[in-house]
Amino acid sequence: MAKRVPFVGGNWKMNLARASGAELAASIAAAARRHAGAEVCVFPPFPYLEVIHSALGGAAAVGGQDCSDQKSGAFTGQVAASMLKDVGCGAVLIGHSERRHGLGEHDALLSEKLRRAVEAGLVPVLCVGETLGERESGRAHDTIETQLRGCLTAHSEDSMARLVVAYEPVWAIGTGRTATPDDAADAHRTVRRTLADLYSASFSESVRVIYGGSVNAKNADDLFQREEIDGGLVGGASLKTDEFTAIIAAASARAAR
Ligand code: 13P
Repeated sequence: MAKRVPFVGGNWKMNLARASGAELAASIAAAARRHAGAEVCVFPPFPYLEVIHSALGGAAAVGGQDCSDQKSGAFTGQVAASMLKDVGCGAVLIGHSERRHGLGEHDALLSEKLRRAVEAGLVPVLCVGETLGERESGRAHDTIETQLRGCLTAHSEDSMARLVVAYEPVWAIGTGRTATPDDAADAHRTVRRTLADLYSASFSESVRVIYGGSVNAKNADDLFQREEIDGGLVGGASLKTDEFTAIIAAASARAAR
């Protein structure tokens, strides 16, 4: 089994409030302490970053769901990567499909966001994945490769040293329809092949590639058994203590294998 530390992200999206978020974070911190083999990061909405950071008490990291492609200035409504760092973030999601498809974010913009994230000292969690139409027309792997190349070509191997890639097929997000472990592993091999081609084989082997799309307590273990799958990016199930705890436990068990 590869020696990459498993990574579990809880993407809360636009859910919870101050008190309910802090309560959930306290139970996630307890789970992360109990199952210490995995790195856990919670991505709450921006207004709650500091309160969740403090509720996690260092047992798990906190991250932003997005950052600006700009450093600072007259960009109403945007949040700079350096501001995320300033309030305690360790990571940031870049290119989540709800931003690519919901807000029209494209690879050139995401490449600039990656630059800002790295400049600020954040772990960039770059999301890629195909739509149902792309999968059904046999273009899933091309899509993944194109997105990776579009976001990464401008960046050096050294600058991407802490990169995490999240493979999130759009058709599996919030639908209850999970990619089979075989299909996910296959897509992850495409990610790694593309990274090896862009950079080097050793770099590609060092990068955590995690799966997202209807991960839950029941399917996490099957997914994380695969050599290719270094953890998960979890939406709906990260809002439920028992579900998310089981997912953290499954990732931590992977580290022990
Ligand atoms: P679900 O786990 O709700 O399918 O969401 C996945 C996701 O988008 C995580 O970023």
